[in-house]
Amino acid sequence: MTINVIEEADRIFKTWKEKVLPCDYIENGIMLWEGLAFCAVCDKLGITLVLESGVAGGRSTEILARYFDFDIKAVDDGKLYGMDRFNNTKKRLSKYPNVEMINGDSDILVPDLIHANKDKKIAVLIDGPKGNRAKHLAKICMRDKTVKFVAIHDTCRDYSYHNLDDMIGTFFYTDDPKFLKKYKFIDSGKDIYSEDGGGLGFVRNIKWNDINMSQKIRFISRRGIKKLKQDIILITGYPHNSFSKPLVQIKRFIDISRGKVIRKPK
Ligand SMILES: C[S@@+](CC[C@H](N)C(=O)[O-])C[C@H]1O[C@@H](n2cnc3c(N)ncnc32)[C@H](O)[C@@H]1O
Repeated sequence: MTINVIEEADRIFKTWKEKVLPCDYIENGIMLWEGLAFCAVCDKLGITLVLESGVAGGRSTEILARYFDFDIKAVDDGKLYGMDRFNNTKKRLSKYPNVEMINGDSDILVPDLIHANKDKKIAVLIDGPKGNRAKHLAKICMRDKTVKFVAIHDTCRDYSYHNLDDMIGTFFYTDDPKFLKKYKFIDSGKDIYSEDGGGLGFVRNIKWNDINMSQKIRFISRRGIKKLKQDIILITGYPHNSFSKPLVQIKRFIDISRGKVIRKPK
């Protein structure tokens, strides 16, 4: 099943607006249009539980709590902004009976929560940790089939620009120009870094064998095909976040019929 996020957002927008708006901007929070996209994908995939990693002032949590009737379990370690902020947010969000705020490390708590909710269809929203740590957590979450998709924030920033492209299930980023043109107006608030928000990237929990050959080619093209020999593709590229590391070019031969990295074609 392919997901057209713009169509899904169009479909829910009237109801979403009635339930969620007005919603004041809270520092360090996600943008409303990012929340809209997340809610739209949850609806499309019939999600029945959201696990959130990274709450801070709780803007994302509040958007979700207002739109959904089902439970939102939101984890924050309180390290970045301190426990006072955690406790204040917990108090503020206590008016939503479907929100549970949990203090601790998501790397431990989110997999535990997935394990404890095997009867649910789960979506995971990660807005802390960031970058490769967020991707690592997403991969751990998606070991479990009950997790239908993961969205990671700040994946449209220079330091982690579209850095989910190497994940098979990646299907949307909220800096999509058509999406922004249509929905950017709903948030007049300001992100401290950029008016475009950090951007949410969306990854379905699918495996290589779940996708057809044209999807495989599309996936591989995102990473740069250099040479094609029968089913063998040479991919070259630079690791994301390489700004902080020496620029080492990756070279990989992939047998696309088997979805496997191989040593070298004979
Ligand atoms: C950008 S803020 C979240 C903003 C929030 N999503 C919103 O829209 O208002 C990131 C938060 O993630 C938390 N965080 C970072 N790494 C974490 C981890 N491993 N486990 C739990 N929380 C974490 C930080 O303490 C911080 O409060």
